Amino acid sequence: MKRLGAAIVAIGLGVLAHAGAAEPVFTRDVAPILYQHCVVCHHPNDIAPMSLMTYSEVKPWAAAIREAVLTRKMPPWLADPRYGHWSNDARLSDAEIATIRAWTAGAKLEGDEKLMPPAPTFHDGWKIGKPDVVIAIPPHKLDATGPDEYAYISVPSGFTEDRWVAAAELRPGNRRIVHHAHVFVEEPPEPAKNMAAKPPDPARAFTQWIQIRRDSLTFVRPDAPVIDDGCAIDDNGRFPGSKAGDLGSLISSYLPGREPDVYPEGTARLIRAGSNLKFQIHYSRTTGKPETDSTSVGLIFAKHPPEQVARRIDLANHMFLIPAGDPDQEVTECHTFHKDMYITSLTPHMHLRGKAMRFTMTFPDGHSETLLDVPAYDFNWQITYRAAPPIFIPAGARLKIDAHFDNSVNNPRNPDATRTIRWGEASETEMMDGWVEYVDALPTNAPTIAKK
Ligand code: HEC
Repeated sequence: MKRLGAAIVAIGLGVLAHAGAAEPVFTRDVAPILYQHCVVCHHPNDIAPMSLMTYSEVKPWAAAIREAVLTRKMPPWLADPRYGHWSNDARLSDAEIATIRAWTAGAKLEGDEKLMPPAPTFHDGWKIGKPDVVIAIPPHKLDATGPDEYAYISVPSGFTEDRWVAAAELRPGNRRIVHHAHVFVEEPPEPAKNMAAKPPDPARAFTQWIQIRRDSLTFVRPDAPVIDDGCAIDDNGRFPGSKAGDLGSLISSYLPGREPDVYPEGTARLIRAGSNLKFQIHYSRTTGKPETDSTSVGLIFAKHPPEQVARRIDLANHMFLIPAGDPDQEVTECHTFHKDMYITSLTPHMHLRGKAMRFTMTFPDGHSETLLDVPAYDFNWQITYRAAPPIFIPAGARLKIDAHFDNSVNNPRNPDATRTIRWGEASETEMMDGWVEYVDALPTNAPTIAKK
């Protein structure tokens, strides 16, 4: 009965809108939606092709906006809404979609200018607000032609005391050539005496055999052992000897569609005095001209020492093989967590053949929960899903990451369906990564970090 009533009310509202009883106008009804959900990308000099800040900018795009909004192509959001609760959930509400539909189908009235909401401001393009410090690489030159380049550039932080970072934003200097970038913290070198007596590590030697370096890029040998089922044992698909979380010092990433790294309230990342910031930048030679880049990272420091250290663990399968033409190759990876923690975000990362990725947790009592499901992955939208509230994970819980790849001609992004694909850093090869941000669950933080 209750359901039926709601359906009738919904139909009634639709009829009213069409009858023109409440013909939506731009200033009062549409602009607030665009300001809240769209202009963060659709303002001058940002990643979207057009600005949607004013009536005259928006009106010519009405038909395209209608299409993009009704199909939920915009704003970009790829998680199946049945699983998880995310603070950055970008989806429009049904009411907002109805307003856009009615306005774009109607007279597209401007409305009273006085009803226009205040325009959001963008500080010099920094989405996190004005950084306390900006650290940039020295200008980096790229020749007109050649393969993609992975540059690794270390820059001294100049920090003379330990710093807690509450938010970090990596900004490409030259958006035409910066495909994606990461910045890692390199702690000051350990005193030499600790390093001297290390015995040789056979696993590391084996990993070196598995890897090929071409220019600055690393790939897996075509004839390396194949492990698609990374869940046979924990961390099965990783490079031998590498530990989940080897990249734990990553502090910020720039990827298409990715928001800046803003750590949850009360948490922060530590950068020790004397550390370097190491930029890893993937350059694509897309312009056919010599180019220069000066990518930088902006940091906002925590006002107080945090209650909690924000941490990150990167899970990955490096040993998979995706046959040529295969429309649906499954690759998995599993990892057991050995301490109580709260997951604060999940990020699926694959390249152009990535099709779907699901994160499922099996708890010590045996029950399983899907934490995140991305059924139609899109390389152009590498979204970090920020859990709200953070998800409590007891020691002994096991995470399964289940990835699917489409290496067939039916995948419009596939650069070459005739190639057998293995792990590699270039976009034409593949990666199978799940990035997990978390904080330790301490008796003291349980009440503040998460109440379920
Ligand atoms: C995270 C950044 C981002 C947000 C948020 C966003 N867009 Fe976009 N939008 C883009 C980018 C980048 C493109 C161009 C690439 C593409 O089409 O995928 C685009 C393309 C479009 C297009 C052209 C689509 C086409 O088929 O050519 C329309 C229309 C559009 N956006 C409308 C919107 C509206 C309306 C909203 C808010 C309800 C919105 N966008 C939110 C980044 C964004």
